[in-house]
Amino acid sequence: MKQELETIQADALSAIEAATDQKILDEARVAFLGKKGRLTAASAAMKDLPNEEKPAYGQALNMARQAITAAIESKLAALQEEADKKSVEGIDLTLPPRELLEGGLHPLTLIKDRAIQILRRMGFALAEGPEIETEYHCFDALNTPDDHPARNEKDTFYFDSGKLLRTHTSSVQIRTMEKATPPVRIIAPGSAYRRDEIDATHLSVFNQLEGLFVAEDVKLGDLKGTLEYFLRALFGNETEVRFRPHFFPFTEPSFEIDVKLHVKGQAPKWIEVAGCGMVDPAVFASLAESRGDDLFDPEKVTGFAFGMGLDRLAMIQWGIKDIRLLIENDTRFLKQFA
Ligand code: PHE
Repeated sequence: MKQELETIQADALSAIEAATDQKILDEARVAFLGKKGRLTAASAAMKDLPNEEKPAYGQALNMARQAITAAIESKLAALQEEADKKSVEGIDLTLPPRELLEGGLHPLTLIKDRAIQILRRMGFALAEGPEIETEYHCFDALNTPDDHPARNEKDTFYFDSGKLLRTHTSSVQIRTMEKATPPVRIIAPGSAYRRDEIDATHLSVFNQLEGLFVAEDVKLGDLKGTLEYFLRALFGNETEVRFRPHFFPFTEPSFEIDVKLHVKGQAPKWIEVAGCGMVDPAVFASLAESRGDDLFDPEKVTGFAFGMGLDRLAMIQWGIKDIRLLIENDTRFLKQFA
């Protein structure tokens, strides 16, 4: 009987050794260890042995089973390794990899971050307000009467609720002053929306950066000095800046600020980058009324405000001739800034 076990084991080991793939190896496993396999049959024969021979035979059986199982496992690993080797054959591991695309910040984000950095150094703190605004915060509180063209349905995106997509970030001036105690010195970057015809300098969704400084005795010279300093810090000391008298309902006097845009291969031209002015006393008066106190009494405080077009600042900074490039997400354009 023991002899028989040895033969089975030897046959099994040579069958396993001879297997050239996993399927043949599995057939060998079934032939020896399967339900009807030779070793299984040999262990069934144990019941016919005299009792005193059983332990030794059992032990021999176990050893044979272990030897066969171990041989199968190591053959399986060898076959797997061989298959792995085959599957990478022909792959040249010395080939240089494909170029990895590097991400970068959008030019609008870059200019916004720089603008904030400069203004924060000057003492302005960040403020914000909702893009879906009430007519009150966008217009009435900013001394903008019902019949003002900016409120026209053709110019502004209204919701059925009567709210609207803010046409400028100046609403944040009101939202801030409703809660603050003077002095107030804030900036508020954010989106603004208008039904503008889209062209080389206009988008219907654009980005502004609002500023407001309210305290005792703020003067026009403070406004001019602050904005000139800001623009030169951003664009360099040689930057040409011009203040043009203008009208805004919520500032008096009011100005528009132009900066020279230099585009390669084109004659330089002035483009408008901001509106600004001294806060109209009527704005303070209406605030005093809604707050029910006199902290913003126009007899006590004065202030200046400005609203810059961040898209326009980006155009000046990099000599971009068409504002639409900023929203087209053409990587040939964007990768210049990465
Ligand atoms: N809100 C004005 C605009 O969008 C700009 C502005 C802001 C003007 C603050 C004066 C003061 O055109």
